[in-house]
Amino acid sequence: MINKLKLYGNMLPKILRKEVVNNLDYRASYNDAASTYGCWLEKMGGFTDNIIKPHYMPPKKTVKILDFACGTGYISRKLIEMGIPCEITVVDLSEKMLEACADLSQRGVKLVHMDGLDFLESTDETFDMIYCGWALPYFQHKVLLKNFMKVLNTGGIVGVIANSKGTLSKMEEIFLSVMEEDVENVKKPMDIRFNLPNGQEGLRKWFEGQGFSTLEIDEGEAVFSFNRPEQLLEWLNKTGALAGTMMIFDSYERAKPNLIKEITKQKLQQDQYVINHKFVYGIFRYGGENCEYK
Ligand SMILES: C[S@@+](CC[C@H](N)C(=O)[O-])C[C@H]1O[C@@H](n2cnc3c(N)ncnc32)[C@H](O)[C@@H]1O
Repeated sequence: MINKLKLYGNMLPKILRKEVVNNLDYRASYNDAASTYGCWLEKMGGFTDNIIKPHYMPPKKTVKILDFACGTGYISRKLIEMGIPCEITVVDLSEKMLEACADLSQRGVKLVHMDGLDFLESTDETFDMIYCGWALPYFQHKVLLKNFMKVLNTGGIVGVIANSKGTLSKMEEIFLSVMEEDVENVKKPMDIRFNLPNGQEGLRKWFEGQGFSTLEIDEGEAVFSFNRPEQLLEWLNKTGALAGTMMIFDSYERAKPNLIKEITKQKLQQDQYVINHKFVYGIFRYGGENCEYK
């Protein structure tokens, strides 16, 4: 109890001063995860395919597509493989992620290394489709959707897949326990969970609340099991699922044994260490009934 009070006493002024895990931290984490991110795509990329539906493309000679927070370019690569006549721009904050898109650049894709929101705010370009794969929680949804609307052509489509509330069950409690146990080692808190949609109804509300209409929406969950707690933690770090969390601590190396101890306590199910990835996905149109293409 005393440690809890001490932790919140330390954290509150930092939250008020906005000294929380920030874009630079996410950038550094994704730079670290870029070379191992493929293991996420191997297991989870199949779910992303649910939002890549050519029949929603407008009947244009060349469809202009924005792959927003593109990572290693999974979505753009799929679009090119499908032979869709398109002009693609990809944007991402992590230069290491973008380096993995070098092959796309050779195939005419425009690579932009920039904060996604800064790009949306500053660009004069407009797009027919925007894809946002597994990146929604890094943004405040209202601000993001307003900026998507700014750059979308009438009748434009947004395809999104994102983690949703209930994902990484108990990981927040695990991090809080470790922070309480060693308050001196806590540098700054993290507030990303506030940006997770509450299942498909939550995501629908976010989009319809901004004037989009829902074309498709669904949700799902994938569960992975590991023999050892260290393997679970490694999976979360190498896939980027815990991006930013290392920066909570002054010394991650000092926090790590405690994280493993808590995972051992809280994540054991029938001899396995189990983690869930809960997610939601949808395809939305901006422009209502009388749009150019329906
Ligand atoms: C989980 S990865 C998803 C990558 C890709 N969209 C996919 O479906 O595989 C999240 C990506 O969001 C990027 N990202 C995070 N915050 C961002 C920001 N503010 N602006 C642009 N990209 C950002 C990260 O660098 C990372 O590449």
